[in-house]
Amino acid sequence: MEVIAVDRYDNAPGHQVAHRAQVIDMTDGNVLTRLIESERPHIVVPEIEAIATETLLELERAGTCRVIPTARAAHLTMNREGIRRLAAETLKLPTSPYAFADSFEQLQAAIDGGIGYPCVIKPVMSSSGKGQSKVDGPAELKAAWDYANAGGRVAKGRVIVEGFVDFDYEITQLTVRALGADGKVQTHFCEPIGHVQVKGDYVESWQPQAMSAAALDKARAIAQAVTDDLGGLGIFGVECFVQGDRVWFSEVSPRPHDTGMVTMITQRQSEFELHARAILGLPVDTSLRTPGASAVIYGGIEAAGIRYEGVAEALAIPGTDLRLFGKPVAFERRRMGVALAEGRDTDEAREKAKQAAARVRPLR
Ligand SMILES: Nc1ncnc2c1ncn2[C@@H]1O[C@H](COP(=O)(O)OP(=O)(O)OP(=O)(O)O)[C@@H](O)[C@H]1O
Ligand SMILES: [Mg+2]
Repeated sequence: MEVIAVDRYDNAPGHQVAHRAQVIDMTDGNVLTRLIESERPHIVVPEIEAIATETLLELERAGTCRVIPTARAAHLTMNREGIRRLAAETLKLPTSPYAFADSFEQLQAAIDGGIGYPCVIKPVMSSSGKGQSKVDGPAELKAAWDYANAGGRVAKGRVIVEGFVDFDYEITQLTVRALGADGKVQTHFCEPIGHVQVKGDYVESWQPQAMSAAALDKARAIAQAVTDDLGGLGIFGVECFVQGDRVWFSEVSPRPHDTGMVTMITQRQSEFELHARAILGLPVDTSLRTPGASAVIYGGIEAAGIRYEGVAEALAIPGTDLRLFGKPVAFERRRMGVALAEGRDTDEAREKAKQAAARVRPLR
């Protein structure tokens, strides 16, 4: 294989480990087409949501390349409206109550008309919690609308408002569609991953998340329904909320999931290896090797060309490992790496991962 990493800036993490690197604006359909037509890759693996998915649909239709898992999956999930309507309205899966709004007045009307408070407001095109806020009452609504408009990927001003689900915990159900020995697609489930999100951004994850048999069955039935519909080959991160034995579908990534970085220490094959194997038509093994956890290392400073202090101290904790992403510029809340830990159980692993992450300090 020859891997060409494409990102929007020079020396991105993927560029540092691929055979070749390209820097383009992937949201520009013409630029994306020109790149794909000149490089002629057999397979295009979208790794971000902010990509010209209409262009991917056209290129796939023309037979120019294979898009992973499918161009339709990339297209539906890059906009919250596409995937939410598919899950709730077509597949009839349980989700939070929701509505879409293009103006403050429409937003207000949707909330007064049934969504109520508390609710969560998000730009339809955003990720990692950008532009997202929880609103507890009418007094906070205008600020949430303004924040969503500033935080979306495109200034279209469309938002989703969701009723707040008071879940006990939330999970990512990693689900792999891979070819079996008979050449037919089989669905494989990893052990569920529990996680904590702060302001819509993941800070900690662990595997396995303890669940009742009923809740696990429901989460996997949801994951099966969504991934059956999206199709193709590869790994998906199906996000669900759980309260007792009740399970709600939240959203899905048609690619490895940030909370799934924990699998770099817990599974025989990490989510990245599973994705690569599935795409290439190779057998996969989703089994757990050990309970474990991950904790995010944030930039903490605004600086270019940072160094990391405390790496040896972090790695001195037995059963831990680090991934430092090598991003050229740090921001206060930019994810610069993760600490990984295995443990006898996830409680011990979480403690160790958090300790290791806290010992690593990005410095200028
Ligand atoms: N309706 C809701 N009720 C309760 N909590 C919610 C709701 N919607 C979102 N959240 C919380 O906010 C987090 C982020 O929401 P969501 O996954 O929709 O946003 P995102 O920007 O796509 O995040 P990411 O890219 O990190 O997955 C969820 O994991 C959950 O913790
Ligand atoms: Mg999410």
